[in-house]
Amino acid sequence: MSFTADRLLLFGATGDLAQRMLLPSLFALDADRLLASDLKIIGTARSSLSDSEFRNFARAALEKFLPAERRGQMAGFLNRLSYQTLDATKREGYDELARKVGKPGRGLAIFLSTAPSLFGPTIAGLAAAGLTGESVRMCLEKPLGSDLASSRAINDAVAGAFPESRIFRIDHYLGKETVQNLLALRFANLMFEPLWNAAHIDHVQITVAETVGLEGRVAFYDDAGALRDMVQNHMLQLLALVAMEPPAHFDATAVRDEKVKVLRALRRVGAGETVTGQYRAGAINGSPVPGYDEELGKPSETETFVAIKAHVDNWRWKGVPFYLRTGKRLPKRVTEIIIQFACVPHSIFAGKGATMQPNRLVIGIQPEENITLSLMAKVPGLDREGIRLRQVPLNIAMPDAFTGAVRRIAYERLLLDLIEGDQTLFVRRDEVEAQWEWIDAIRQQWAEEGLKPKPYPAGTWGPSAAIALAERDGVTWHE
Ligand code: BG6
Repeated sequence: MSFTADRLLLFGATGDLAQRMLLPSLFALDADRLLASDLKIIGTARSSLSDSEFRNFARAALEKFLPAERRGQMAGFLNRLSYQTLDATKREGYDELARKVGKPGRGLAIFLSTAPSLFGPTIAGLAAAGLTGESVRMCLEKPLGSDLASSRAINDAVAGAFPESRIFRIDHYLGKETVQNLLALRFANLMFEPLWNAAHIDHVQITVAETVGLEGRVAFYDDAGALRDMVQNHMLQLLALVAMEPPAHFDATAVRDEKVKVLRALRRVGAGETVTGQYRAGAINGSPVPGYDEELGKPSETETFVAIKAHVDNWRWKGVPFYLRTGKRLPKRVTEIIIQFACVPHSIFAGKGATMQPNRLVIGIQPEENITLSLMAKVPGLDREGIRLRQVPLNIAMPDAFTGAVRRIAYERLLLDLIEGDQTLFVRRDEVEAQWEWIDAIRQQWAEEGLKPKPYPAGTWGPSAAIALAERDGVTWHE
């Protein structure tokens, strides 16, 4: 049912995500007059707070996390907020919560930013209090399970109260403007698509590198590790957008149908096709940082780095490796996708001594948003000693191309789509489950191989085995 919600109920309203992302995003939408004037935002969490204490809490979060240029008059936004204390595991509190939410005129959007262990009891409580009807949408934040079985259990619990058409699963990478631009690059231009296949592409690289370490998320991260924290969701979504067939329309069904086909075509990763690592003490931007085990306070076998050679087994991608790598405490924060084209079939310049390099498309997702296509060009000269060719970049810096456009937080887009009911940028159940199936097989492979993370100094590109993973195919990671 299509409706623009006039109530937004935030579970986990005092948590880290709410402070860093959700409240700032909602404020920014409000400041740009994108929220209906009657939208009320109800926060709930275990902490005991009054409405005015929650507003003060929200104000502090906005002052801390919103970029200065986007801060403004806060009073109007803060007036939308109210708060209800709730122990999500106890049924009693939900009637009170329902009273606080009041009777939505058009509809209610619920955002669960809590531990997944609370999803089941929360949904049961909401159902008992009459907060799961036809005009209610449910949005779930990751982690959506820790393997296929636990993800299915969550999906089943949610499906008990909401049909898939009212379930919104977040992968915040899909809210990033540059990630959406991948679709524009591929499907709003003629020149790439005819070449976007195994006949013309040698390999693809996807890197999501971070300089941060554990960031205090000790318990969560040590149970998850890089494979489940980053590859299962964000990296596989990027891979799916790069590899999918053109959808017939830009809508939730068409786009997600195509993504899930790619996820289901991922080949089970074989022995020797993954490398894991864990950072040790080192330096980031010249400052010393402790090792993972020191931050954690105990030895651990959790990987903070993973590199994978993946394959999509279908006609388009037959024989094209997708090299994926992600890690914490790497030398710089960068997310980028490299499309390495094949060599020209025949070099007319070979007899003149010229060497050629194949074209390469670098799609910078963050922090720099730019697209660079490397082309071969002739070095100017009379060529009396032969022709010299050199790679030159054709560079499009997105911020320059779109000056004046606001740089939005990924959650702004996602929250707006949730309130308005557009599922295109949310992950469907079959996608999440296909993602987990592939990830579970990797973990099983690790267990069979007895693979343990190799140490790497913080501030380096992971263990040397990750470099070897690509180099033995003659591929160099883009840095
Ligand atoms: C989250 C992970 O999903 O994504 C974090 O749990 C990671 O470990 C974060 O740091 C990265 O997001 P972004 O938007 O900063 O690239």
